[in-house]
Amino acid sequence: MSIRVGLFDSGVGGLTVFKRVAKLYPHFSFIYLADTARIPYGSKNLNEIRKIAKEIVSWFNMQNIDVLLVACNTTNSIALDIINNNLNIPVYGLIESVSLMVEDDRIGVLATPSTVKSNAYTKAILDFNPKAFVIEQPCPGFVSNIEVDYINVDKLRTLAIEYLTPLLKAEVESIILGCSHYPLIIPLLSELIPSKVNLIDPAVALSFKLESFLGAKIIDPNKREYLTNSKFYVTSDPDKFAIRSKNWLNICPEVELVSLRNKACVS
Ligand code: DGL
Repeated sequence: MSIRVGLFDSGVGGLTVFKRVAKLYPHFSFIYLADTARIPYGSKNLNEIRKIAKEIVSWFNMQNIDVLLVACNTTNSIALDIINNNLNIPVYGLIESVSLMVEDDRIGVLATPSTVKSNAYTKAILDFNPKAFVIEQPCPGFVSNIEVDYINVDKLRTLAIEYLTPLLKAEVESIILGCSHYPLIIPLLSELIPSKVNLIDPAVALSFKLESFLGAKIIDPNKREYLTNSKFYVTSDPDKFAIRSKNWLNICPEVELVSLRNKACVS
């Protein structure tokens, strides 16, 4: 029987995790939930994120999945305990996965304001490497400028320069993309940093970590095969999500509208 892999994010950002993992395991089924009705998560407070996490877990509890990937750093940083405590299946987060694999000592993190406020990246990195110097930079403007039908590169470039400057001044050796939306603008970010600075997408580390559970990878010979076993759900505007996904998946997926609210919540 095929393994059913669940993933969620507030929007299209988690597609960076989906693509990375689903391409390696095209023979499994993927269930992607985007809580588009409540995007952005990154400006929400701790209580709101934890409440949302409970609703997401309730929904996934009805989807018969075998493993859940938290494709959202904001939820990962603030509510991983809720997710772990209320699902009886393995749960994989981005923050724990990447923190184990960063080799440099001077590390910058770009993330949403809520993720930065949680300090989760700094704690996770220092747990593994107490010598590390970590600087976290909130990027409040990125998600709203990535979640659009047409990307305005000039606007994103101006924001990226502002957010990268403190990290480059601090002479970081690696920059972790601590929000799953940010790998979508890697080409732009790469233009703005010296080539000796490593840009790290935590989804790569997550896909390595997953091998112990999902087994050997299969490299998808037909680049799109992985999409045929995938289902996409949103909490608002399925058409908008489908159109935006096309920018990143190259096809318009079929997207179904679901409601996460008014369900009996887990405690
Ligand atoms: N992509 C998510 C993250 O990794 C959430 C972004 C948002 O909704 O602000 O943090």
